[in-house]
Amino acid sequence: MPETTDPAVHVLLPWKGLDERHGPWPSNVRVHIWDGRTPEDELPAEALESTGLWVMPYAVPDAERLLPRLPAVRAVQSLSAGVEKLLPVMPEGAKLYNGRGLHDASTAEHALGLILAAQRDLPRWVADQQAGRWEPHFTRSLAGARVAVIGYGSIGQALERRLLACEAEVVRIARRPRPEEDVHAVTELPQLLPDVDIAVLVLPETPATTGMFGPDELAAMPDGALVVNVGRGRTLKTGALLDETRSGRLRAALDVTDPEPLPGDHPLRKQPGVLITPHVAGGSATFRPRAERLIVEQVRRYAAGEPLVNAFPRP
Ligand SMILES: NC(=O)c1ccc[n+]([C@@H]2O[C@H](COP(=O)([O-])OP(=O)(O)OC[C@H]3O[C@@H](n4cnc5c(N)ncnc54)[C@H](OP(=O)(O)O)[C@@H]3O)[C@@H](O)[C@H]2O)c1
Repeated sequence: MPETTDPAVHVLLPWKGLDERHGPWPSNVRVHIWDGRTPEDELPAEALESTGLWVMPYAVPDAERLLPRLPAVRAVQSLSAGVEKLLPVMPEGAKLYNGRGLHDASTAEHALGLILAAQRDLPRWVADQQAGRWEPHFTRSLAGARVAVIGYGSIGQALERRLLACEAEVVRIARRPRPEEDVHAVTELPQLLPDVDIAVLVLPETPATTGMFGPDELAAMPDGALVVNVGRGRTLKTGALLDETRSGRLRAALDVTDPEPLPGDHPLRKQPGVLITPHVAGGSATFRPRAERLIVEQVRRYAAGEPLVNAFPRP
């Protein structure tokens, strides 16, 4: 008797019903579902033994605990753009793919919202509304402001499109210079920062970016400037930011902080001119349809033996 081999490819997905919305799966695909909340012991043995492509559930802390139980896994798709926590736990022989692009619209929109709220004093007006005050004053604006986008990648470029529509001027900054695209190298920050009104950090957390924006960078910014962080909290030194905001010299609008979650009594919460949202920039209604399209594309490619998109790190 010749040995029989299973011609099927097994994929483990976080959501049911994608085929109902996007068309049938390729005939050689066997789909298993794990939402990250159901105990993993309830997964069928076949799903654990045979999964080759695992699409991780989104925003489920510790979902990566399943990795050691997937001996056949060759491709791990995260739906997050930031995958720093997965790098140390990736099994040998498996490739990592990230959610680059899925969060661009959502994160850029949130960054724009933070900037506009800070420039137009929205927290003040909301407080006045609650307190029954009517005390108008002139505010800053985004139109005419010079904004450094530090991390001119997928999200940074989506943010730039929104900033330009608001008549801001954008200074593009990335790891390496790209003169043909007018992108500056991060090493030029000391020369660039004194002339910006707003600095937006859209950086991944890596050994090179951790603590990258600290006392020197903050000190180089002009009085009254706004620091925005929608990338990762640890890229901005919290202590240095506290020093600059306590005195009221700089303002800040942060979707990500160090630490996270930010304790209820953390001094950053009470600083004048500091606006904080709890790491929600990427998680909005724009995410799900984009994530579904990526999953369907990755399953199709995996089933056909084609290279997947969104390899991390980017080749
Ligand atoms: N707040 C949220 O909810 C939320 C949502 C989604 C994503 N994020 C965060 O946003 C980050 C960026 O996402 P993305 O999709 O835009 O990533 P991306 O397309 O890979 O872009 C990253 C950018 O950062 C630059 N960069 C990397 N290392 C650097 C360094 N050492 N110095 C200066 N610049 C550096 C890159 O420069 P090069 O172009 O030269 O490579 C690139 O321009 C993610 O990694 C994630 O942590 C947060």
